[in-house]
Amino acid sequence: MRNRLLIGCLLFATFYLLSCDHKPEQKNTRKTIDYIKEIPGINDSIPADVTEKGKVLIAYSDCYTCHKEDQRSVGPAFKDIAKRYPVNKVYIEMLAQKVIIGGSRSWGYPVMAPHPKLSFEDAKMMVSYILSMKM
Ligand code: HEC
Repeated sequence: MRNRLLIGCLLFATFYLLSCDHKPEQKNTRKTIDYIKEIPGINDSIPADVTEKGKVLIAYSDCYTCHKEDQRSVGPAFKDIAKRYPVNKVYIEMLAQKVIIGGSRSWGYPVMAPHPKLSFEDAKMMVSYILSMKM
């Protein structure tokens, strides 16, 4: 009697395992947005003229050789960066600093080349434009 129960359980278990055997493969194909940990914080609004200037500055710089707006490339997508950081002075300054001195280790990518010729003001406008993609 016990044996039957055991066999029953085993059968059930093997069928159960077999029936969901195929599914996990499809899920591994792409890691998208879920690797981003959003940092909580207050979002300030950014004046439109600042984002406009940032957009132009980025277009004339080398940023797009490593970044794309909504896809990861050599560096993270701008939209992913926007997703991660709150839009406020502290983060804008921190990221602007990183653009100038170069960055690594935040995203598990290789390194971002430094941009020593960039002024802090310009870098802040660029970052403001990037973070404005959140909204
Ligand atoms: C040589 C390739 C390269 C270029 C050129 C480049 N980036 Fe990056 N960028 C990266 C990589 C790689 C990372 C991720 C670094 C990391 O993991 O911390 C990154 C990260 C960033 C981040 C997020 C930093 C953080 O700590 O979260 C910002 C903001 C950024 N880049 C802005 C810019 C801007 C603005 C420009 C143009 C002035 C630019 N990048 C040019 C490769 C590049």
